[in-house]
Amino acid sequence: MSNLMKATVTSVHHWTDTLFSFTATRDPSFRFLNGQFAMIGLELNGKPLLRAYSMVSANYEEQLEFLSIKVPDGALTSRLKDIQPGDTVLVGRKATGTLLQDNLLPGKRLYLLGTGTGLAPFMSIIKDPEAYERFEKVVLVHGCREVAELAYKDVIADLPNNEFFGEMVQGKLLYYPTVTREAFRNTGRISTLVETGKLFSDLGLPPLDKEHDRVMLCGSPAMLADLRVILEGKGFVEGSQSEPGHYVVEKAFVEQ
Ligand code: A2P
Repeated sequence: MSNLMKATVTSVHHWTDTLFSFTATRDPSFRFLNGQFAMIGLELNGKPLLRAYSMVSANYEEQLEFLSIKVPDGALTSRLKDIQPGDTVLVGRKATGTLLQDNLLPGKRLYLLGTGTGLAPFMSIIKDPEAYERFEKVVLVHGCREVAELAYKDVIADLPNNEFFGEMVQGKLLYYPTVTREAFRNTGRISTLVETGKLFSDLGLPPLDKEHDRVMLCGSPAMLADLRVILEGKGFVEGSQSEPGHYVVEKAFVEQ
């Protein structure tokens, strides 16, 4: 059996000149945990060209969804950005990744801190009823340069009205979008907002504390490095499958 499956694109949404998302059919045999990623791509000159993409869709959803940047000279994204409904994309059979609730110790609050396409794995997690069973609050912080890059902001705002799990989300999911290069209701880098404590005071939550708070990070290497230093400074220990901890980390993948 090939390690790749074919999926048919069902919709494409262009958020900005540099950001788009798409949905595709899901092979019934494709299983994953919310927060994981898979290899996604196109066949080019008879060969698969693949990159890691986190699933935006939750693991119970019928279709797959992915969020991608468009890099002008990027080997994959410069082509992937032109896909249309009906086109075929390739999906690796094996999903993997560290942004799993099981890799975290039990706690009161789950912080999902993502920049750019680092939002993607958190979209599947905020649609996971288990997150609201495990945690009293789920705090999604998305940092972008511009407001237009705050993908899914209406979807997120509308989750409390979801017919299946809206009630679980109400009052538990806190969404904090922030931008760095134009005016908006929240501005500043996530690292600065955590360091100064503005994030917590704005949300009416206590300062970050390893006893009660759990953190998932997904963003650029620089963002991850800065937040790691801040978290480790507060005594947070990174978790893994073999030993759950206070926080987990994944790079927001697609760079070409
Ligand atoms: P900034 O505009 O100050 O660079 P990018 O599109 O470059 O990946 O950036 C996405 C968002 O992440 C931007 O708001 C950017 O802020 C922010 N960012 C960049 N570097 C860091 C960092 N080291 N820590 C936290 N946020 C960062």
